[in-house]
Amino acid sequence: MNSSLFPSLLEARLRAAFDRSSVASDLPEDFSTPVMPAADTRFGDYQSNAAMVLAKRLKRNPRELATEIVGLIDLEGLAKPAEVAGPGFINFWISEKSLATTVETLLGDDARLGVPPADEPHTIVIDFSAPNVAKPMHVGHIRSTIIGDSLARIARFLGHSVITDNHIGDWGTQFGMVLYGWKNFLDEAALEADPVKELLRLYRHVNGLAKADEALLDACKQELVKLQGGDAENLSIWTRCVEVSKQGLQRIYDLLDVKFDHWLGESFYNDKLAPLVDGLIASGIAEESDGAICIFFREDGRLADKPALIRKSDGGFLYATTDLATIEYRVNELKADEVWYVVGAPQQLHFDQIFAAAQKQGVTATLAFIPFGSILGKDKKMLRTRSGDTVQLADVLDEAIERAGKVIEEKNAERDTAFSAEETAEIARIIGIGSVKYAELSQHRMTDYIFDWDTMLALKGNTAPYLINAYVRTRSIFRKRGEGFGGAERILVEAPQERSLALKLAQFAEIVPQVLSDFRPNLLANYLYELANTFHAFYENCPVLKSEGDVQASRLALCEATSRVLRKGLELLGIQVAEQM
Ligand code: ARG
Repeated sequence: MNSSLFPSLLEARLRAAFDRSSVASDLPEDFSTPVMPAADTRFGDYQSNAAMVLAKRLKRNPRELATEIVGLIDLEGLAKPAEVAGPGFINFWISEKSLATTVETLLGDDARLGVPPADEPHTIVIDFSAPNVAKPMHVGHIRSTIIGDSLARIARFLGHSVITDNHIGDWGTQFGMVLYGWKNFLDEAALEADPVKELLRLYRHVNGLAKADEALLDACKQELVKLQGGDAENLSIWTRCVEVSKQGLQRIYDLLDVKFDHWLGESFYNDKLAPLVDGLIASGIAEESDGAICIFFREDGRLADKPALIRKSDGGFLYATTDLATIEYRVNELKADEVWYVVGAPQQLHFDQIFAAAQKQGVTATLAFIPFGSILGKDKKMLRTRSGDTVQLADVLDEAIERAGKVIEEKNAERDTAFSAEETAEIARIIGIGSVKYAELSQHRMTDYIFDWDTMLALKGNTAPYLINAYVRTRSIFRKRGEGFGGAERILVEAPQERSLALKLAQFAEIVPQVLSDFRPNLLANYLYELANTFHAFYENCPVLKSEGDVQASRLALCEATSRVLRKGLELLGIQVAEQM
């Protein structure tokens, strides 16, 4: 952790105290003095259980040891005298002076707001979204898209070199049905009007027919074989399908403000599969089994009886084969130090297998599987439309914007100056998309969360509208004042609400890097929620425009700092802010 943050500063002072204490010569090799934000902020800003842990190991009285350390610790220029609590916790209060200086520094650092860059910048390829062509991009893909985009933004902000890659499924068995449908049931006018919808209709129609008609299923398989064999007609239909699908997807990504550096879909790896498998056989990593080619993990407890199939007995390649070629490309060509996969939890086994196979090949890059749970309907079952179909992402986003528009109209029914239609549309877009994203990001990714419009669009509670509204409040102070923030001022930390707000603001720098340990954007979301609450308490108790002189200047600076942290924090989640709502 960066040495300028409060926990690291306190850790160093604490360590120095132990080094001067009666246990100095007994400190174990691996002794450390971790300092955490206090669990109960009534008793401190930060706390450490280091004395308790050590006392247990050395069979000493924990409270006595903590008391000795508190007597020895030098907190000059950083914190007020430490206190012992409960069975031997050491509690710290940061001094008002250090809080003020930290917020002043944050205000002077508009680009980073005090967040230290990563010690070791890495090249990180992030594989997310990755929907399948001619199949609907459903709300399950939304989790991957939103979480992946947020992780990409945060990793970039921390100074990593991030490459986002949309590994779309553009070469699956679904093309057998799509090709058959195209040749027999294509509605040209419908294709013209909404190509993605027509492809999906074809796929569903043929899929339905094939269930009861084996000959038809066979015909689909033949179409697929022809495509894979390079048949010119099928290839040209396939190319068109992929093109129109990409255009349809692009519309959704534009709406979501999600960008990819690459779209290296499955088909990109086609000509790399045969040589890859040959190489794996030659090096003894893969072997024949019943006519198929497999990689066995006999030495690996979990995977001992779960070999990865990489070539079928009919010569066909599989999802795993493509993923192994993908790893090779990302490591060798894109020079990745790390590859992150944001993919639903049901694919755990697949990734366990390909990571284990990559390890056998000598890949040393860090490969991380970042799974997530499901989205449930209000009935706690998998989210479905009323007619029982999978819910499509494009429809969800359109509905979000429409509903957000209503919320804004209701909220502003009593205003004398109504927003223009364009303004309302723009704010509705920001709030609607923001709400869907925030509902996702404020949950731990493994949580199966319930998709509920009323909850996610509520103006109160842990929601995007609440956070964006908090930002709007900070801006309206400057609007009412008739003047923006003039520049860095001296911060005065006097009232308890000023103190809490200054501490929260300073902690932005601690939270952002933590998101990447175990990939939890929800830490940042919940931090922003707490910041907004802390700001509201400050705003209710500490008049800003009615105060004067240095006090007013300081309070305006606290408002400005809150404004910047909220905006940047939401931006790192991929959520835009509105200036008014
Ligand atoms: N297209 C896949 C799906 O929708 C996800 C691909 C994830 N990425 C990967 N490299 N396998 O399930």
